[in-house]
Amino acid sequence: MKQKTQVVIVGAGPAGLTLALLLQRSGVHVRILESRSRQYVESRARAGLLEQNTVDLFNELNVADRLNQEGLKHRGVILGFNGERCRVPFDKLTNGRMITIYGQQEVLKDLIKSCNDRGIKIEFEAEVKGADKIDSAQPVVEYRSNGSEYVIECDFIAGCDGYHGISRRLLPSDSYKEYARDYPFSWLGILAYAAPATEELIYSYHERGFALHSLRSQSVSRLYLQVDNNDSVENWSDEQIWNELDVRLSDLRSFKVNRGEIFEKAITPMRSFMIDNMQYGRLFLAGDAAHIVPPTGGKGLNLAVADVKWLASALVEWYKTGSKSLLESYSANCLRRIWRAQDFSNFMTYLFHKQVPHGSFEYHLQKSRFDYIKHSPAQATTLAENYVGLKDI
Ligand code: FAD
Ligand code: PHB
Repeated sequence: MKQKTQVVIVGAGPAGLTLALLLQRSGVHVRILESRSRQYVESRARAGLLEQNTVDLFNELNVADRLNQEGLKHRGVILGFNGERCRVPFDKLTNGRMITIYGQQEVLKDLIKSCNDRGIKIEFEAEVKGADKIDSAQPVVEYRSNGSEYVIECDFIAGCDGYHGISRRLLPSDSYKEYARDYPFSWLGILAYAAPATEELIYSYHERGFALHSLRSQSVSRLYLQVDNNDSVENWSDEQIWNELDVRLSDLRSFKVNRGEIFEKAITPMRSFMIDNMQYGRLFLAGDAAHIVPPTGGKGLNLAVADVKWLASALVEWYKTGSKSLLESYSANCLRRIWRAQDFSNFMTYLFHKQVPHGSFEYHLQKSRFDYIKHSPAQATTLAENYVGLKDI
């Protein structure tokens, strides 16, 4: 039997689920196909920093009850450089704008529950294998579920299937230009049952490498260490991790992290990746499927949500009026924000990671950039407005 819907969404990550909720609200029928199980999707530990724009959109969609109750509002961030510290009060510098700390797993649980409550069908363990006729008015998506192959006819395909997904590979290779940078370091990230030793995030340069102290709640800390690309979690005992965090996050008053049981340990490579055209025919990419930023700026999930806001407006305009104008400008509208986030994430990455011998020319530039933020309200404001998320691009 041939299946039909209006929009097939590939991937139930932040981009795909938010898009589904935005479209359903305007009466557009969607089907979401997700290759992994619900349990896997809801437990993958990743992002934690939500921009004000993202929180505002989740409120507008009525999916933010738990986020508003449990999310931690932060009015500033602490930057460290070899023991020296400075605080950037972004609420003061950006007219009261803030960030919220709330784990991506929790975001996904809330979005999946809202989809279920609103009758949006998510098929888990349904892997998209290909698509056909994407430059026609009736593209076809092919997927595999429970050992059988299926096809769905639709009006549009939204490729929200992350960096390793299939959608980007369905774009003709001459329809876009690719930009990529792989950094010579990775992040070892842990989650631990330990009360955070700080109320606000601490990003710290240290001559042994970068460290970040983040958190998930009053009793769970999220911490990261810069490691080499060829390192592996087996090389790090829990004790070594805590000792290294103490060294790299220390300040002039011997700040120490609080220790506790580590219940998640993983290494993530650092990458910047971009394509300069996110659409072809009736296929539109959003989120990590089209771009990756190193996590130092906390931007990936927020960009995914910003993309689908544009995509939903464009699709709804087409269904309501038949106008293609927002669909045609979809890439251009998203790319302005994405390039800004690429630049900011790259800036934060080079500011805080150890790349070259301590004491070199490059090191002195890093130190001077830190001093400039510390001493210049103009430079601190530049950092703050990018960090909380620019409003109107
Ligand atoms: P994804 O979350 O990758 O979702 C894509 C989905 O598509 C997946 O569920 C996948 O299983 C599915 N899929 C793939 N292929 C197929 C297929 N063929 N068929 C069907 N389904 C498929 N971002 C922030 O904003 N703030 C942060 O603080 C932050 N910190 C981070 C820390 C770490 C350690 C990491 C790794 C990332 C961090 N990010 C952060 C980035 C953020 O997690 C991602 O940018 C975000 O998950 C992107 O969402 P997405 O929906 O585009 O893609
Ligand atoms: C996190 O809490 O996981 C987090 C916070 C800020 C970042 C990256 C990750 O820049």
